[in-house]
Amino acid sequence: MAKSRPSKRANSRSRGKMRAANAPAPVSAKVSVARDRPRAELKVALLGYGTVGRSVAKILCQNSGSPLRLTHIFNRNVGRKKSDSLPPSIRWTERIEDVLASDADVIVELVGGLDPAGGWVRRALDAGKSVVTANKLLISECGPELVDLARSKGRRIEFGASVAGGIPAIIGIQEGLAGDNLYRIAGILNGTCNYILTRMEAIGASFQSALKEAQELGFAEADPSSDVDGIDARAKLVILAQAGLGLRVRAEQILARPVTTIASVDFMYARDLDCTIRQISLAEKVVSAEAPHGVKLAGAVQPALIPSDSLMAHAQGSQNIVTAFGEYSGRTVFSGFGAGGDPTAVAVVSDLYAIARSAGAPPGALPSPAKVPGEISGDFTVPHYLRFVVKDRPGIVAALAAILANYGISIDALLQKPGFPHSALSFVMTVESCDSAELNRALAEIARLDFHVEPPLCLPIFSE
Ligand SMILES: NC(=O)c1ccc[n+]([C@@H]2O[C@H](COP(=O)([O-])OP(=O)(O)OC[C@H]3O[C@@H](n4cnc5c(N)ncnc54)[C@H](OP(=O)(O)O)[C@@H]3O)[C@@H](O)[C@H]2O)c1
Repeated sequence: MAKSRPSKRANSRSRGKMRAANAPAPVSAKVSVARDRPRAELKVALLGYGTVGRSVAKILCQNSGSPLRLTHIFNRNVGRKKSDSLPPSIRWTERIEDVLASDADVIVELVGGLDPAGGWVRRALDAGKSVVTANKLLISECGPELVDLARSKGRRIEFGASVAGGIPAIIGIQEGLAGDNLYRIAGILNGTCNYILTRMEAIGASFQSALKEAQELGFAEADPSSDVDGIDARAKLVILAQAGLGLRVRAEQILARPVTTIASVDFMYARDLDCTIRQISLAEKVVSAEAPHGVKLAGAVQPALIPSDSLMAHAQGSQNIVTAFGEYSGRTVFSGFGAGGDPTAVAVVSDLYAIARSAGAPPGALPSPAKVPGEISGDFTVPHYLRFVVKDRPGIVAALAAILANYGISIDALLQKPGFPHSALSFVMTVESCDSAELNRALAEIARLDFHVEPPLCLPIFSE
C-alpha cells in the first residue's frame, strides 16, 4: 500500500478572549448603585435539595449582605434533607403548593427532568414568579415556550446553569455579546466524553477502559449512553443555538454521532496530523435567500479532529469550553468546569443576581423570540479523516480513490502505522475540504466493497 506524508494544514488562529469560570461573579455598576438605595430583597424558593440545590443554598446563606434571601426549600421526603447549617427561618416543605402560594419572588428549579419539574415551572410563571433553572432537558424541549410564558407574565426565566454548569456561557452570550450578530457556536459540552477522550489520548487507553475509569471516579454514569451517544451535548447545543443564534430547533433535528467508535489507534493517526479528537458540538447559522425564513442551520454533535494546539484541545478531563463567533467581536471563548454542585450553583446564583438587577425592567427588555430555521442539516464543508480496517489485498486504495473521485473528492494524505495483521489492516486517508453529505454518499458506496473488516470511520477535521 502506498504511503505518503500527511500534509500539514495551516491552523487558523483568530484572537480570542478567555474568561475564567472560577473568576468571582461580576458585580455590575447597576448593583453598586442599588447598594446606595434601600435594597429590595429578592425572596428565593428552592425546588430540589440535591447536588446543585445544596450548593445553591450554601452560597445564598453564606453571602451576607446579598439582596437574595432563601425562604423555602422543597424536596420529597424533606425530613432526611434538613440541615442545621442553614438559617432556621427557612421553611422546609414537601408540598409544592406551599412554595407556589408563598410570597417567593423567584423559584429555583433544581429537581431535573421534564415531569413534574416542567409543570411546576409553568405554574410558578403563571403565579407571577420568575424562574431560574439548571434543567437542560426542560429548556432544550420547552425553552421557547417557557420564555414566551415568562414574557407574557412580565417575568423572567433564566437557565444559565443548563449549559456548561459554572461557565458563564449563556449569560455571557445573551448579555455580554448581545450587541453582536453571532453566527457560530462551537464547544465541548460533555465532561464525561471529554474525560474519556483525553484519557485515551494521554495513556493510549481503549474506549472501554477509559469509560470504566471515568465511572469509577464518578465522571460517568452507570448508564453512559446519553453522554457517549451525544444526546446530553445535543440538548445543550439546542439551548446555545436558541440563546446565541436566535434559532429555535428541536433536539431530534440535530445530528448526534457516538464517540464509542473512536479507538486508541485514531489518536495515533490524529497525532501524525497534528490533531487530537474531541466530542465537538457545533451550530452554524447561514443567512440564505433560498432557504425558507431566510436562514439555515448546520448543527451536529460528533467526534471530530481538531488541531492539538487549539483552545478546544486544551480542555482537559471533565472541563467544558464554549466558543462564540460574532460578526463584530470575532471569537470569544468561555471555559472551565462545566459540572459539579458548586460550579453549577454559581451559575444559578448569578442568574438570581441578573433577575435582582432587572427588577422593575419592562418585559420588552427580554430577548426577542427565536426564529425557526428553514433548513437544518448536519453537513459541514471541511476536510475529513477516514479510517479503514480491511482484509488486505492489492488494489484497495485504487478502489477507494476511484469512488471518491466519482464524487469529486480529492485525497489529501494516506497514513499507515506498521504492525497490523493483513487480516485486519488499519489505515487512514484524509480528504480535502468537501461537503460531508457528498462524502457520506461516497462512503455508502465504499461500505459495499467486500474488503472491510469493520465499517469505515469518518470524522470531520475542524480547524478551530
Ligand atoms: N450535578 C451537576 O453537575 C449539574 C450540572 C449542570 C446542570 N445540572 C442540572 O441541575 C438539576 C439538578 O441536578 P442535581 O445533580 O442536583 O440532581 P440531584 O442531585 O438528583 O438532585 C435532585 C433533587 O430533586 C429531588 N427530587 C427529584 N424528584 C423529585 C420530586 N418528584 N419531588 C420532589 N423532589 C424531587 C431529589 O430528591 P431525592 O434525594 O429524594 O432523589 C434531589 O434532592 C438537573 O436538571 C441537572 O440536569 C446538574
